Amino acid sequence: MATNLRYTGYHQDQNTAFDEELALVGRGTPCGEYMRRFWHPVAMTSQVEDVPLLIRRFGEDLVLFRDKKGRYGLVHRHCPHRNASLEYGIPTECGIRCCYHGWHFDIDGTLLEAPAEADDTKVKQQVRLGAYPVREYRGLIFAYMGPPEEEPAFPIYDTFEIEDGELVPYEVTQPCNWLQIAENSVDPMHVVFLHTRVNIVQFTEKLGYWPVMDWRERPIGLFYTKARRVNDYIWISTNDVILPNFTQAGAVYENTDGTEPKYFGRCSFTRWVVPVDDTNTTILAYRHFNKRAETARDEWKTPEALEKIDIGELRSRPYKERQRNPGDYEAFIGQGPISPHVRENLVTSDRGVAMYRLRLRNEIKKLQAGEVPLQPAAYVDNPIPTYGSDTVIRLPASDDDEAAIAALQRQVGDIYEEADRIKGEARYDYLAERLAPLNT
Ligand code: FES
Ligand SMILES: [Fe+2]
Repeated sequence: MATNLRYTGYHQDQNTAFDEELALVGRGTPCGEYMRRFWHPVAMTSQVEDVPLLIRRFGEDLVLFRDKKGRYGLVHRHCPHRNASLEYGIPTECGIRCCYHGWHFDIDGTLLEAPAEADDTKVKQQVRLGAYPVREYRGLIFAYMGPPEEEPAFPIYDTFEIEDGELVPYEVTQPCNWLQIAENSVDPMHVVFLHTRVNIVQFTEKLGYWPVMDWRERPIGLFYTKARRVNDYIWISTNDVILPNFTQAGAVYENTDGTEPKYFGRCSFTRWVVPVDDTNTTILAYRHFNKRAETARDEWKTPEALEKIDIGELRSRPYKERQRNPGDYEAFIGQGPISPHVRENLVTSDRGVAMYRLRLRNEIKKLQAGEVPLQPAAYVDNPIPTYGSDTVIRLPASDDDEAAIAALQRQVGDIYEEADRIKGEARYDYLAERLAPLNT
């Protein structure tokens, strides 16, 4: 770098090398192997019709189908006979049949029939179609793409099991690396600026109030609370990240008006950031409708769930409109296909980004050293407690207001953690009982 600090274009670092350890998601890459140890949503159930669905996940071309028995199969795209694509395959009573020479495979990849061969052909013992286990759960299809002998228990999260609750799935795709999207969930300052102060208020102006932050780690991830003063009340909103790519946030539109307490109101979205390949990502998600979630907006129930809804502005807006009022999508893709970390300047307000990257790196290293990653359903029995929430506590302003707010939010975080092993309604009762006395 030249000593003159003005007009440094010529001298600026032009290095575009990216962080391979975290960015690459293919088979055999550090992060690709780590992420493959978890269940991920791969599509919406509604996308699987009478014909197979061609998808790409973690850099692998795959075909998702439902056989005539109603079972789901997720298999490699190309038939192991002579590579015809099974997107043209025919779902059968028991699996899928290749269109080219009729080889017939079960959902687990077993070759059941090679009709042009003699009955005693050895090919049925020798050849397999690559297949992965799948689970349909409330409108999303989940897959486990790791080594079969390491298949973990299927995790079910508490917000999906709230009495009389409804989950509405959706998907939005993003043409960039998965990490720059996942990191957005641990970047609370972007909410203050991108969504509120710099542009048109995209959600509510209170998201632009300056938050006091408390960062916390738990064995399966990290969560943080953002405490904002609204009149005599402190609105404590919590974001939850469960490793590697599960995210929840507090209320987006509805929040406190500063006139009454609230105890652990629940989030209205759960999102998984799922790599398509190294430079494409899809967000598969549920919108939650239940008695504890923020008040639903009509448009959140749209049945056209692909590219039609997200937390913020959609990618389908005209370019100039996106320039005039950019949202998360513009922030993500503006970083490039894979953001080069060597050219960033992380600062104190990027603490969440640094924490998240470090956790991922540590987990990757543990796996490389032979340790099995801690699974959500191994940490706590299903349903697993999540933290995406809002609590509002009365605390009139004092001389050292920031310290008082910080102390309150730490107490709230402690109480949340205490309740980790209490299930169902009892957890909400416990939290309300413990949080209410914090009102001043
Ligand atoms: S290529 Fe599939 S059966 Fe021949
Ligand atoms: Fe955002």
